[in-house]
Amino acid sequence: MEKNIEKKGFIDCLVGLQWGDEGKGKNIDELLSKGIYSGVARFQGGANAGHTLKFGQIEFIGHIVPSGCLQKDIELYVGNGVVVDIISLVKEISELKKLGFDVLPRLYISNRAKLVSYLHPFLDQAEEFSRSQDGFKIGTTSRGIGPAYSDSRSRRGLLLGDILFSDFDQKFDSLSKMHMNLLKMYQTDYGFEIPTEKIDEAKIKWQAALTELKKMQICDLSFLIQKRLREGKNILAEGAQGIMLDIDYGDYPNVTSSNTLPANVCLGLGVSHKYIRNIYGVIKAYTTKVGGGDFPARIKDEVVEKMFQEQGHEFGATTGRARMCGWLDLFALKYAIGLSGTNKIFINKADICPTDKIKVVLGYKKGDKILEEFPLRLNEVTDVNTEEILGWGNANYGVSLKENVSPALTSYLNYIKEKLSEFKIEIVSVGTGPDREHSFNWDTD
Ligand code: GDP
Ligand code: IMO
Ligand code: MG
Repeated sequence: MEKNIEKKGFIDCLVGLQWGDEGKGKNIDELLSKGIYSGVARFQGGANAGHTLKFGQIEFIGHIVPSGCLQKDIELYVGNGVVVDIISLVKEISELKKLGFDVLPRLYISNRAKLVSYLHPFLDQAEEFSRSQDGFKIGTTSRGIGPAYSDSRSRRGLLLGDILFSDFDQKFDSLSKMHMNLLKMYQTDYGFEIPTEKIDEAKIKWQAALTELKKMQICDLSFLIQKRLREGKNILAEGAQGIMLDIDYGDYPNVTSSNTLPANVCLGLGVSHKYIRNIYGVIKAYTTKVGGGDFPARIKDEVVEKMFQEQGHEFGATTGRARMCGWLDLFALKYAIGLSGTNKIFINKADICPTDKIKVVLGYKKGDKILEEFPLRLNEVTDVNTEEILGWGNANYGVSLKENVSPALTSYLNYIKEKLSEFKIEIVSVGTGPDREHSFNWDTD
C-alpha cells in the first residue's frame, strides 16, 4: 500500500471579523515579518478588496496582489477562489515596481482562478442601477465581483488558464456577446446606458492587461502549495472583506459574492483542511461598514460618528467612500468568531477614540425581545442593547511596547477579553497606527 505523504508545513488563516477594512493588510504584513511563512495566498474575493500596507514612507494598497508584496522573500499566491481583475493586477504590479518591488518572479496565479472580464464592472453598475429603481442598493464596489462569480457558477465564465488555449478568443467573444445583450436589456428596461467610448476604452485596457498576464506565472496553484507544505513551508491565507459580508452567513443580500469564512481557504486554494492551524481574526476597536444594508451598531450621534470617521480616516481604500462608524459590536463579533473558529485576534485603531465615554453593543432587540441567535435579516433588528463604558483614549498613537499602554486602553482590552472569555481567545497584537511598526503584543511576547 502506498505510504501516506507526511504533512509538514501548515496554513494559518487571517480573516476580518467585521464588515471589512479591519486592517487585515497591515496584520498580514506583521505576521509575515515573523519569518514563519514562505508564502501568502488570497483565496476569495477580487479587486473589491483594498488592503493598505504602510512602512515608513512606503504606502501601497493591494486589491489583487497579496499583502506580502513588500517583503522580498515571500511568495505571493492568487488562488482559484479569486475573481481576478487583470487591469488592477497589472497596475498594482507596476506600482510595486516603482516602489522597488519586482513581484513578478514570486507571484503565482492559479490557472483555475476566475477572470473578470472588461464588461463585468459595467454589469455590476447596471445591476445596482436596476436594484436602485426597486428602492434598494447593495452599494457594491463596482468591481464586477457579483457578475464574475455569477458567470463562474453558471459555468459560462472564463478561467485564467483558458487564456493559454486556442479556443480562448472564441469563448471570450461569446461571453462578451452575452454581456452586451444583458447591457442592452438594462438599457431598454431600466434606461441604464454606458457610453460606447467607455466600453471601447475598457476593452483596449483589458486587452493590454491580457498581454501582460500572458507573461505571468499561471500554474496549478493547488499543486504548488501542496508541494510547499510537503517541503515543510508554512503559508498564510489572506482573507478579504469580512465575515459579516460572507455570502452565506452575512446579511443577505447585503453581502459580497464569496464565502469570506476560513472554511473557504481549502476550496479557494485547493488544499486539505488537515493543514489548517491558527485562525487569526482582525477587528477594529470600533466597527465600520461601507455600502448598503442595516448596521445596528452604527453610532446614532452624527457628530460622534463623524469624529470617528475623521480621526480614523474612515474612507474606503478601494472606492474612497466614507465608511459608516459604529460601536464595537460584541454580538456580531461572537457570531463571527463562532463561524470562523478564530482563536487569536488582532485589534486595530486602538489609537483612535475621540470621546471620553463609549458604548459597546451587547445584543440585538426585536421589539421587546432580546435575540439569542443572530438574525437572518438585520432589518428585523429594532434596537440594540448597549453598555456605556469609559473610552480607551487617544494617547496610544505609535505605542509599540505593552508597558507604555495607557491605563484606559488596558482596561478596554481587558474588558474585550473578558466579554469574549467563552471563546478562550488570545489577543495577539494591538494596532496603534497605520505603520507596520505601530502595534504592541498583548497576550504573547
Ligand atoms: P483591510 O481591508 O482590512 O486591509 O483594511 P484597509 O486597508 O481597507 O483599512 C484599514 C485602514 O486603517 C488603512 O488606512 C490602514 O492604514 C489603517 N490602519 C490599520 N491599522 C491601524 C491602526 O491601528 N491605527 C490607525 N490609525 N490606522 C490603522
Ligand atoms: P476589504 O478586503 C469593506 C462591501 C461593499 C458592498 C458589499 C458588496 O478591503 O476589507 P462587492 O463589490 O463585493 O459586490 O460589494 O461588500 N465590500 C467591502 N467592504 N471592505 C471590503 O474589502 C469590501 N469588499 C466589498 O461595500 O457593501
Ligand atoms: Mg479594505
